[in-house]
Amino acid sequence: MRLVLVGPPGAGKGTQAQFISAHFAIPHISTGDIFRANLSAGTPLGLEAKAYMDKGDLVPDSLTTAMVKDRLLQGDVATGFLLDGYPRTTGQAAALDEILREIKTPLDVVLEMQADEDEIVTRLLARGRSDDSEEVIRHRLKVYVEQTAPIISYYRNAGILQSINGLGAVAEVTERAIAALTR
Ligand code: AP5
Repeated sequence: MRLVLVGPPGAGKGTQAQFISAHFAIPHISTGDIFRANLSAGTPLGLEAKAYMDKGDLVPDSLTTAMVKDRLLQGDVATGFLLDGYPRTTGQAAALDEILREIKTPLDVVLEMQADEDEIVTRLLARGRSDDSEEVIRHRLKVYVEQTAPIISYYRNAGILQSINGLGAVAEVTERAIAALTR
């Protein structure tokens, strides 16, 4: 299973990715987590990403795609992978297609998780990560609408999009996700 999870900040991508990756026994690759790990370790990549993340802007495609390519060339993705938070621009989607063509492993499915703005703001203010202030959350949502939402129609046109409602109890959403992925 080679899949991408897409959805606005706070839709529950990271939460569901843990259950989905365990269910299909595939690695969970979160670009946000990789940036945060680099930031904690004080690497040049982490320090460069920090300025963008603090504001809720996207880290430039060149940096992000190089990092994902490096990760997708590692041996553990041979049985599949779950990409969480990548791609999130049309440029990243094209770059991912190119990487996957090179390694001869096309995507099976893109799972879109939907959630409304009020629920997102409530969830993220309760979580309180450093980029979860109300101002930054609203900016991340705007960036999602402007830069990431266009990839939804790209994957719909490719015939590999599945969409689910991300509202409700975590276990209910997991059931919906697994059902959509095994449809
Ligand atoms: P990233 O880490 O990807 O953050 P995000 O997309 O904004 O997503 P979140 O982690 O906020 O939300 P989520 O959908 O994963 O929800 P979660 O499960 O955590 O990116 C952060 C930054 O890194 C970006 O702004 C950008 O700067 C940079 N970046 C990352 N990837 C990039 C890329 N490809 N290109 C460029 N820049 C990139 O849940 C949220 C909260 O809700 C949690 O507290 C959770 O417990 C709770 N929750 C989850 N599900 C439910 C439920 N069903 N009911 C109630 N609460 C729930």
